[in-house]
Amino acid sequence: MLIRIPPASAASESEVTPEAVYLSRRRFMGGGLGLASLAALPALSFADDGRYAEVESVDEPAWFKAKLASVRWQAVTVGDEAITPYKDASRYNNFYEFGPNKGDPVRHAAQFKVEPWTVLIDGEVGRPGRYDMAALAEPQQLEERIYRLRCVEAWSMVIPWLGFSLADLLRQAEPTSQARYVRFETLVDAERMVGQRSGFSLIDWPYVEGLRLDEAMHPLAFMAVGMYGRTLPAQNGAPLRLVVPWKYGFKSIKSIVRISLVRDEPVNTWQALAPNEYGFYANVNPQVDHPRWSQAQERRLPSSLFSPNVMKTRLFNGYDEVASLYSGLDLRKHY
Ligand code: MTE
Repeated sequence: MLIRIPPASAASESEVTPEAVYLSRRRFMGGGLGLASLAALPALSFADDGRYAEVESVDEPAWFKAKLASVRWQAVTVGDEAITPYKDASRYNNFYEFGPNKGDPVRHAAQFKVEPWTVLIDGEVGRPGRYDMAALAEPQQLEERIYRLRCVEAWSMVIPWLGFSLADLLRQAEPTSQARYVRFETLVDAERMVGQRSGFSLIDWPYVEGLRLDEAMHPLAFMAVGMYGRTLPAQNGAPLRLVVPWKYGFKSIKSIVRISLVRDEPVNTWQALAPNEYGFYANVNPQVDHPRWSQAQERRLPSSLFSPNVMKTRLFNGYDEVASLYSGLDLRKHY
């Protein structure tokens, strides 16, 4: 991965936006409002009292608004670890389709419209199909899951995602006995994604990711359609992204248009670019360093020169319940 160490000036990105801003909205939505009153609400926003950045309001599609009424809030949490301010999670991004720098996605994705959007589910499945987002989400129970996100570049965040279980989605497609892996693909549209027009990009589009089928069926594997109580901002992978909290962030592929059940292990984008640095598994592991830097620690954002907020990295990013997926596998070899 092309690593860019943020300059000291990145400290400006670290002024704290309290979780209270986000949590107050969550409580507001969960506070006994019925479907009818929710549907009548305009996109919510919070007053900026001068110290805090507001959580931006966005146009939410009808299917998403309807689903908000039955969200299971805080279905998974991270104990007392603070939620990363929305401002950091939505402005410090990796999304090479919109450029290689952390600030590029929020700038270049602003005009990126994700309606209409379809997702093709194909390959080794009994029920292949192409779904628009309303149809894809319709049978799913939306949950809020607060997960750690650990980037291979050694920074991390805690993000409250909204979405549904990947296993539920895959089961509905009825994988055949031949299906051993799941392959995900991001949209290719050079007109709308400026990074795909760049002659400097080394990536062979589309961005591709993959999971072993048993990893994909693990209850923690998640398809996000929102975060911080609203739809995903474009820079975070709208309208649909994968979230695999025990793996490095590059596995969490954004703006997915195709999910294929396949027989052979897919080659993912970063693995294709630098196979000695990025593997298929990409499990968070403090004992297996990247060839160019240590993975023993991470900077939890917001982080600044004077308050670096460095902490120890945990095996599987602290999600010990996935360990049995890898029993007998040499994690040094299968990085
Ligand atoms: N998905 C696509 N399509 N393109 C990308 O460049 N970057 C990955 C991942 N998903 C990427 C992507 C990387 S390297 C990380 S760390 C996470 O998205 C970052 O997610 P975030 O910007 O929401 O924090």
